[in-house]
Amino acid sequence: MRPFPPYRIQVVKEIPITTRQQREEALARASYNPFNLPASMVTIDLLTDSGTGAVSATQEAFAAQADRAYAGSDSFYRFRRAVDELTSYPHAYPVHQGRAAERVLFSTVLKPGQISLSNTHFDTTRANVELLGAEARDLPCAEFGNLDSREPFKGNIDLDALEQTLRGPDGGRVGQVLVTITNNGGGGQPVSMANLRAVRSLCDRYGVPFFLDAARFAENSWLVVQREPGYGHLTPREVARQTFALADGCVASLKKDGIAPMGALLGVRDPELAKQCEANLIATEGFRTYGGMAAHDLERVAQGLHEVLDPNYLRSREADAAHFAELIAQAGVDIVQPAGMHALYLNAGRLLPHIPPHGYPGHALASELYLAGGVRAAELGSLYLGSFDENHNLVSPAPFELVRLAIPRRTYTLAHLEYVADVLADIAKNPGRVASYRIVDAPPLLRHFNLKLAQIPAEY
Ligand code: F0G
Repeated sequence: MRPFPPYRIQVVKEIPITTRQQREEALARASYNPFNLPASMVTIDLLTDSGTGAVSATQEAFAAQADRAYAGSDSFYRFRRAVDELTSYPHAYPVHQGRAAERVLFSTVLKPGQISLSNTHFDTTRANVELLGAEARDLPCAEFGNLDSREPFKGNIDLDALEQTLRGPDGGRVGQVLVTITNNGGGGQPVSMANLRAVRSLCDRYGVPFFLDAARFAENSWLVVQREPGYGHLTPREVARQTFALADGCVASLKKDGIAPMGALLGVRDPELAKQCEANLIATEGFRTYGGMAAHDLERVAQGLHEVLDPNYLRSREADAAHFAELIAQAGVDIVQPAGMHALYLNAGRLLPHIPPHGYPGHALASELYLAGGVRAAELGSLYLGSFDENHNLVSPAPFELVRLAIPRRTYTLAHLEYVADVLADIAKNPGRVASYRIVDAPPLLRHFNLKLAQIPAEY
């Protein structure tokens, strides 16, 4: 039988329906950067799965009775119990969102000149490492280099490269190893338990702390249950517990698998590290029992952490992503294989061979999705990952030109995803018509959020 969502819809929000003319004007006003579009001009918003999930009636019921006490509120203790059911970290703090948890942890762990090693640092994670004068170095596994291969754990860190770095001349400068589950910057691919165990033993051998960026811990755990030999008999919660147990601590944006509009977790084992993080947290985020979160969001997160591990929910979410992937394949567009859960990554470079890297094929496809159907998506290609000279000329392109279609949790029905696949199929019938882009203005840090571009219509 086909998996189906273990809930029904009780409250809905209208979405805007616009004309192509209106979208053309809106995108031009946004300097051709989808981050500048007002949401009121977006029909299907697949920009992110962060903070965009639908909350449940139970989450809202808990939120309504939230306890706003500054210190030691009931809401904090509910949050703490939910975290304790998942992790064995003796020190666990709420923080307002993932990047704040990163800043608090990294500024305690990393010194200028040190190196953070990861399967892939998410963009804010990289920025938080670099802002400290440290280096963020990505070591994705070799399998990820082949977008079409269906290896089950293409999110793994490259263990040989990790060991060589720890043993080599830079070894003494490695301040942390941070594994992102699932690997959002690497096609949303999961990380195996075998890989995490090997990271644990390398970190033990070389005396380096090992942290998780666990924003999508439940989806990673589900994919381990489905794909990794020896885990099929476990529940996703059991796998999640084993996962957290392997690391010295975690940062986790709970806007993803906490299914909450706002919130994050910082968990650590080491009492000395905890003390320093706590001082930083209190000085910059809030007291240790709320950490910058409103009590109602502590409640939503506590309940969300429970709901997200429901196997029926995870099964149906995986099936939605797989169905969406199938429709996209039928539309004639390739994605990073195999389909993960929180997003599908379109191979724009392959679909638009007439657009060179300096015409930004990923951005071109994302823009066309908006112009043709009001669908908003994010480029993950040379605009985001390439390097540029001071005149905004692309010096080295990204290895791949991708577009991420993120799937917000419990928010869109299959009919919405079918609509997006139809829009994509229309584009794929005539890809030569898709316009390319050039950069007009770009800031040096976190470029893609503030870019301004101009459109170069296709000569067709
Ligand atoms: N780590 C990962 C792996 C993420 O995907 C994100 C956010 C963060 C950290 C930062 O968390 O947003 O709560 O501060 N990812 C969103 C995205 C924004 O669209 O992928 P945050």
